[in-house]
This record gives sequence, structure tokens and C-alpha cells, in this order.
Amino acid sequence: MITKDEIENLVESMIDPFLHKTLLELNSIKDLKWDEEKKHVSIKIAVAQLGTQAQLELQENIVSLLKGNGVESVGLRFSELPSGLVNEMLENKKDSGNPVYIAIASGKGGVGKSTVSVNLAVALARLGKKVGIMDADIYGFSVPDMMGISKRPLVENEKIIPVERFGVKVISMGFFVEDNAPIIWRGPMLGKMLTSFLEEVQWGELDYLILDLPPGTGDVALDVHTMLPASKEVIVTTPHPTAAFVAARAGAMALKTEHDILGVIENMSYFESKVTGEKEYVFGKGGGIKLAEDLEVPLLGQLPLAQPDWNTEDFAPSVYQENHMLGEKYKEIAEHIINVLK
Ligand SMILES: Nc1ncnc2c1ncn2[C@@H]1O[C@H](COP(=O)(O)OP(=O)(O)OP(=O)(O)O)[C@@H](O)[C@H]1O
Ligand SMILES: [Mg+2]
Repeated sequence: MITKDEIENLVESMIDPFLHKTLLELNSIKDLKWDEEKKHVSIKIAVAQLGTQAQLELQENIVSLLKGNGVESVGLRFSELPSGLVNEMLENKKDSGNPVYIAIASGKGGVGKSTVSVNLAVALARLGKKVGIMDADIYGFSVPDMMGISKRPLVENEKIIPVERFGVKVISMGFFVEDNAPIIWRGPMLGKMLTSFLEEVQWGELDYLILDLPPGTGDVALDVHTMLPASKEVIVTTPHPTAAFVAARAGAMALKTEHDILGVIENMSYFESKVTGEKEYVFGKGGGIKLAEDLEVPLLGQLPLAQPDWNTEDFAPSVYQENHMLGEKYKEIAEHIINVLK
């Protein structure tokens, strides 16, 4: 014969389907009476909100659990948990949710998407955020080399553990290719690769996951759009008006798939002479601002031409140092993004 304590233990271990905590943790059981003779239990339970699907679910779960353990009839009454507690729980739940996906796109190749992806990720990490990069350029992967990564990911419990560098978790097709051999997969394999990168990689808790897209508006870009409908997007262009025109296509694609565009980054905007301080607009002028106006989004930054200071001991050929002029510009962009995504 089941005892009152046993019944209480059973009910305490039930999970509230809305707050995903046990009734014990929530201190939800307000009253419990056990009539041994009639095998009838009457319980009063507090839930987040009365009259919801979650309440119904909990009710059914409790009744079937108790009836499976020798109780003949169950009387349930419900009240509401204090709203302060519920709000606090919901806030915590929100914090441990999905990362914000930020896809870095462009209309054409070679404008600096990968450079921007890497440096934006590093800048966000320098500001204390938990960041990952997914090199979604399956054929033209470049992130590992740019960040100077020579390690390979480990596999643990059938999950791939990303390689960490400068506080950023990195995954790239480059990790799974022998000797830089070309990759000749087509269509469906690509989609599968992206799914694997999302589902079979142990990203852990992340605030942001940056996706370095291949150039243009091809299959992979489209897959990202359909697989991650909530992804945000940053469009990279050079200052040349034609480049901006081509980049507008990437923008149009984002708009069509209802991706929220955070803004435009104009890369290779100018070259500034160290000697005279004079700016030369090597690749033309005005492309970034024009594209931002066309897409009705902010111009997040204009990044000049410059190389990182190379450090032979800690070699990462494309990562700008924190105090480098470009490192500082990336920091401003990262701060802006953190603010608008709050
Ligand atoms: N601001 C900059 N100053 C100097 N060199 C730069 C700058 N931005 C990018 N580069 C260089 O330009 C080249 C192309 O950049 P990157 O690979 O980031 O472009 P991409 O858009 O990712 O190219 P792809 O379309 O091939 O993926 C690289 O060699 C990179 O180091
Ligand atoms: Mg690239």
C-alpha cells in the first residue's frame, strides 16, 4: 500500500511543463491529503498561469502517475504561483536560449566576409561574450588559416568539440579535409554539412554564432536562410559602386527571407598613408553608404586597408590586435551590435 510520503515524493518529482522545473523546486504543492481507505488523494498545486495547456498536461501526468501507483481517485485543485517567481524563471529560461545567429554575407567574393566574420567574433569575445564561428564556406573555407588554427576538433560522445582560439569556438570544413584537398560535394551534401555543423557540434552556451557565408546568393546562402529563419545578417561590400550594386542582391535575398539586416560594413574603404595621413580611395568611394540607403539599414563601419601586426609566436594572419586601429573599429561595431540586439 502506498503511503502519503510516497505520494508526496512522486508528485514532487513531476516537472512543470511550462517552467521546466520540478514541483519540489517550485514549491508548488500547497496541500496534500490522503484517504487510505478510499484510496483517494486530494492535492492543491500552484502553476504559472491557470487554464493553460501546460496546466492540463500537468494534471494528466499527475493523475496517470498516481493511478499507476495504487491510487484510485485523484482530486486536483490549482492556484497561481507568485508572479515574481514566474517572471524570474522565464528570464532565466530566456538567458539560456539559442544564440543569436549573425550571417556575414556579400554579393561577390573577396570583399572581406571572412575577415569581418573572424574579427567581429574576436571583438565580441573581447567584450566578454560567448561566441562561435561557423565557417559555412564549405568549398572555400578560410577561417582556420585566418585565425592561425593548427589544431583539429576532438570528438566526445559522438559530438564534435569546436576548436577554441582567442575565446571563439570555431568549426570549419577545413578541419575535416586532408591536406587541403578540394571538395567536390554538391547540392544535398552541402545542406547536410550545415545541419551537422549546427546539430552535431557541441557549441555549449553561446551568445552569438557568426556564420561566414560563401560569396553570393547560391545554395548555401539560401540554405542558411531557410534553416535559420531568425538569423540576423551583416552585408559586406567594398566602396566601389558596382560592388555595392552586386551586394544589393544579397540584401534583397535577406529581405525576401525576412532576415533582419543589422547593417552594412564597407571594407577596404581607403588606404591611409602612415607618413602623410592622407587617405586614398583605392577602390572607389560611396558604395557602403549607397547600399545602406538602398536597404534602409545603418552603415556599421568603414574599414580601411591594413594588415594586422604579425606576431610569429601567436600567428593569426587575419586577426587585428585589440589596440590596432582596425581592432578598435571592430570593437565599435561589436558594441553597436550588442546594443541593438539587447
Ligand atoms: N581591410 C583589409 N585590409 C587589407 N586586406 C584585407 C582587408 N579585408 C580583407 N583583406 C584581405 O582580402 C582578401 C579577401 O578577404 P576575405 O577572404 O576576408 O574575403 P571573402 O569575402 O571572405 O572572400 P571569399 O568570397 O573568397 O570568401 C584576404 O586576403 C584578406 O586578408
Ligand atoms: Mg570567405
